[in-house]
Amino acid sequence: MLKQKIKRRIRNFLTGLDLPHLQAIRWQLDDISAQTTLNNSYQFSSYFPQTNWSLRPATLVHILNDITINQRKRIVDFGCGASTIYMAKHIKCSNLDAKIYAIDESQEWIDVMLIFLKQENLDEIVTFVHAPLAKSELSISEENKWYNQNTLKHAIGKDKIDLAIVDGPVGNSSPFARYGAIPFLKEIFAERYSVFLDDADRKEELIIVNQWEKLLNVSVQDYNRYKVFTTDQQFSTRPLFKMYDKLFRSHYLS
Ligand SMILES: C[S@@+](CC[C@H](N)C(=O)[O-])C[C@H]1O[C@@H](n2cnc3c(N)ncnc32)[C@H](O)[C@@H]1O
Repeated sequence: MLKQKIKRRIRNFLTGLDLPHLQAIRWQLDDISAQTTLNNSYQFSSYFPQTNWSLRPATLVHILNDITINQRKRIVDFGCGASTIYMAKHIKCSNLDAKIYAIDESQEWIDVMLIFLKQENLDEIVTFVHAPLAKSELSISEENKWYNQNTLKHAIGKDKIDLAIVDGPVGNSSPFARYGAIPFLKEIFAERYSVFLDDADRKEELIIVNQWEKLLNVSVQDYNRYKVFTTDQQFSTRPLFKMYDKLFRSHYLS
């Protein structure tokens, strides 16, 4: 074991590839593969920007797999952007009986999204909810702010949510900014559901994941950058390119 570890260290040193570099290359390969899948499936008539704030293509493909395989119908997207656009395109093109509540604290950002969605005739799939951040009792910190809950309740009404993407509020908006999602959704989840938490490898998010596990009693799947809570185990939704994760971990991390 020790001998193997030393061998690995020497090899990594000789090839000039240390672990963070290898991890970055690995993620890039995942994203190239995922973006190819997305491009093969969906074309847009105009350009929309995928930025360093957007969900990674790899995560998007995993989410679209979940929508298709588990037949999701009522989706909440906390923090809108590429996630909203790709989900809306998928719902429309696959003629799915599903709709999206896209929640954002920024009306300006919603306006940017709306221009694009209207151009693409996708706006009827998405209900945008401008929910400014307000002091919240759904909290593990005294100073916690989260989306205004009354605004969310009013928008969602009696719908039962079967998929949530938690990529907002912005991480530095308050301590443990994303914690509120599960205490809020817990009351309105459908019988079967999935939750995708992005940026899940950050220090605060790791604590949030720990708290959510206690609240949900559902096991969590770890994909490094994002984590998935799901009640559905019958069929796998793990993207094809993720089959190399285990190999990578055993080869480079153990
Ligand atoms: C991590 S982003 C959400 C990204 C979204 N889920 C996506 O896939 O593109 C969280 C928030 O940052 C803001 N935001 C999104 N894109 C941004 C950008 N390019 N620059 C600055 N703020 C941005 C929006 O208010 C959004 O709700």
